[in-house]
Amino acid sequence: MDYLACELLRDSDVPLYEQLYDYIKGEITVGRLLEGDKLPSKRKLATLLKISQNTIQTAYEQLEAEGYIEVQARRGYFILPLTDLEYIESKMKNEGSTVGVYPKEQTAIYDFHPSQIDTVHFPYDKWRKYVKQHIEPVHQSSLLLGENQGELDLRQEIAQYLYHSRGVTCKPEQIVIGAGVEVLLQQLIFLFDKNTVYGVEDPGYHLMMKILHNYGYEVYPLLVDRQGVDIHAIKKSPIDILYTTPSHHFPYGTVLPIQRRQQLLNWAAEKDDRYIIEDDYDSEFRYNGKTIPSLQSMDRGEKVIYLGSFSKSFIPSLRISYMVLPKPLVKSYKEKLSFYHCTVSRIDQNALSGFMKDGEFEKHLNRMKKVYRRKVEIVLNVLKSFPQLEVMGESSGLHVVLIVKNGMNESELVARAKRERLKIYPLSNYSIIRRDDKEPQIILGFAGIIEEQLEHSLKALFKAWGMDEID
Ligand SMILES: Cc1ncc(COP(=O)(O)O)c(C=O)c1O
Repeated sequence: MDYLACELLRDSDVPLYEQLYDYIKGEITVGRLLEGDKLPSKRKLATLLKISQNTIQTAYEQLEAEGYIEVQARRGYFILPLTDLEYIESKMKNEGSTVGVYPKEQTAIYDFHPSQIDTVHFPYDKWRKYVKQHIEPVHQSSLLLGENQGELDLRQEIAQYLYHSRGVTCKPEQIVIGAGVEVLLQQLIFLFDKNTVYGVEDPGYHLMMKILHNYGYEVYPLLVDRQGVDIHAIKKSPIDILYTTPSHHFPYGTVLPIQRRQQLLNWAAEKDDRYIIEDDYDSEFRYNGKTIPSLQSMDRGEKVIYLGSFSKSFIPSLRISYMVLPKPLVKSYKEKLSFYHCTVSRIDQNALSGFMKDGEFEKHLNRMKKVYRRKVEIVLNVLKSFPQLEVMGESSGLHVVLIVKNGMNESELVARAKRERLKIYPLSNYSIIRRDDKEPQIILGFAGIIEEQLEHSLKALFKAWGMDEID
């Protein structure tokens, strides 16, 4: 064995050696590491996990001392049999004890979810400094409720950032901060009539469809071709509001061409109650050519509601997203929704605005662009050896779409991957209209896989699909 899919939390109070020790012990206890399995060498594991060999030595020594593993001279560390422990565990379970190690649900070795980000290069120390600053007595106000629309400082930072990076022109008064795009969408729909018909891209961001269904709205799926959503489909439909991802279609990753953008804006301008919701999620990471300007930057008719998020550009657990309302909708927002308290912690908002004001966010983005570019290159390099795979959406974002031409259907691909404890996400998860594609498509998020393991993880997946590598 030359790797361990162990994720270490560097800012945890639990020392790294203890986390590694717990992980290996858990894997042995639930039977994923078996008698006779060889653990990776200290040198190899230290490089993979980016920790010192001493840390690994301490974890291995502790496991050895407790009889989980043994060291064999010049051969390495090997897993020992666990018969006695199984007995103790089943006894504890029978007696209903709350103490002990219980088998975990089968976790995936590699999870290719498109919402994953790289957590290895997160600026832990810097971010901690900004969060800590706002739990000091000089910042007592951070403990109290802030502005409902979101902290003004953060809204100012966002307005500036959007202008420079996405060409979005707006004033802080137009920005509403919320704990995730789905929270903002739930507020947004209250600005419109109950009979509003929504159009969503199909395939598209599935939560948007679910939210609208939950609120009882009629949702109209608009089939997306390789360029994005098509005006003819929109014109044939009864929709009033279109939800779209023009700069980086989710999940195809394509860019809506300028002609189609213009057509969308013209369509919206034809009637007062037509709007376009532009979800600009993860458009920051572009690997070829210049960044694509937002649709909002072309809008002269106050028709575009712009949605943005820090989930990919920073971290998803922070839950900070925002919407930029066209000026006419700010008035209705104030009348109908301004009584809702902001759904994001004031401490986090203040930490983020300080982080942005000091230029740390920009530095972080630049660093991450390089990290993700390297990861995309690894993905593309591996794909070269597998002619049964076609790739889409590799120019931007943190996932690609694989078109798989090995004769298997979607469920077979998912099942084969699952058997090897690899988690993958088929296109049908993001589609409303069921299509029987002869060549199934898989959405493959690569950002969350450690760089050193990316090649291995992809090859493991393709092997699970029965594919041979060609030179
Ligand atoms: C297109 C799109 N928009 C928004 C989101 C979620 O954004 P947030 O984390 O800010 O709620 C996702 C998550 O996958 C997405 O794919």
